[in-house]
Amino acid sequence: MKIKKAIIPAAGLGTRVLPASKAVPKEMLTIVDKPAIQYIVEEAVKAGITDILIITNRGKSVIEDHFDHSVELENTLKSRGKTDILNEMNRVANLANIYYIRQKETKGLGDAVLRAKEFVGNEPFAVLYGDDVIVGEVPAIKELCDAYDKYGKSVVGIKEVSDELIVKYSSMKIEPLSSNTYSITDMIEKPSLEAKFSNYSILGRCVLSSKIFEILEHTPLGVGGELQLTDAMKEIAVTEGMVGVDFSGTRYDMGNKFGILKANIEVGLTHPETKDELRDYIKELAKTL
Ligand code: UTP
Repeated sequence: MKIKKAIIPAAGLGTRVLPASKAVPKEMLTIVDKPAIQYIVEEAVKAGITDILIITNRGKSVIEDHFDHSVELENTLKSRGKTDILNEMNRVANLANIYYIRQKETKGLGDAVLRAKEFVGNEPFAVLYGDDVIVGEVPAIKELCDAYDKYGKSVVGIKEVSDELIVKYSSMKIEPLSSNTYSITDMIEKPSLEAKFSNYSILGRCVLSSKIFEILEHTPLGVGGELQLTDAMKEIAVTEGMVGVDFSGTRYDMGNKFGILKANIEVGLTHPETKDELRDYIKELAKTL
């Protein structure tokens, strides 16, 4: 079944990137010349997704402004003959059908996903975490949608992470299916090192069946007193099994300071307008380190 709908939870408080995220949502922090959330919307669109629900909250209306037309700006660009950037502004405003809903309290990623129940209906749908940018030839969410088509099971994007990170993320119980695909039969959110299943963790992407909503409705609050999406997915993993895809792109965590720096340097080294200058600058700078 072709996956046409996606949700982007973007209602978190972003406490790890304060003060940057106080008045500007972390999803709007830039990588070179685009906010993180635009990379994520573009990834979804490239994967054939047409309808996107962004979960926001108070203070995140700039996300809506970003994907809207700005008549004054567009008229000015037109009168100044700046056609290229005008076309780019129009492209951004017409990327997809984008809808918004507010999560009134930040009660966790599971609660944010539950806000999408009416939007999703009975179809499988994609989830792209608003602060995880994945850059690569093939859109990561397409790799997951293809696995959903092939195996008919809910899918998560996974990567191997260090012990230091696994205790902050989630840990998957896995068996290999093919070179980059795994069968997942259990999972745990923010495990202790003794409780971890493996060092494979979910990083920023999933494709879920709409069954997740009824599970979320009876899932008790988990780690941190929040409704954890991992706790609900665990029920699917244990009863039906899930699939993990070790996606091919590079993931940048825009929810932490070093992730933002890495994203800007690595994407800056491939961006046509910055790559040469940045490479020369880094080479010079490296001599002084
Ligand atoms: P994080 O756990 O990174 O969000 O959630 P956070 O709460 O903003 O982070 P810190 O720890 O305070 O820095 C991953 C994604 O889920 C969204 C976030 O916006 C982020 O894109 N999220 C999280 C919600 O939409 N609602 C929530 O209640 C929690």
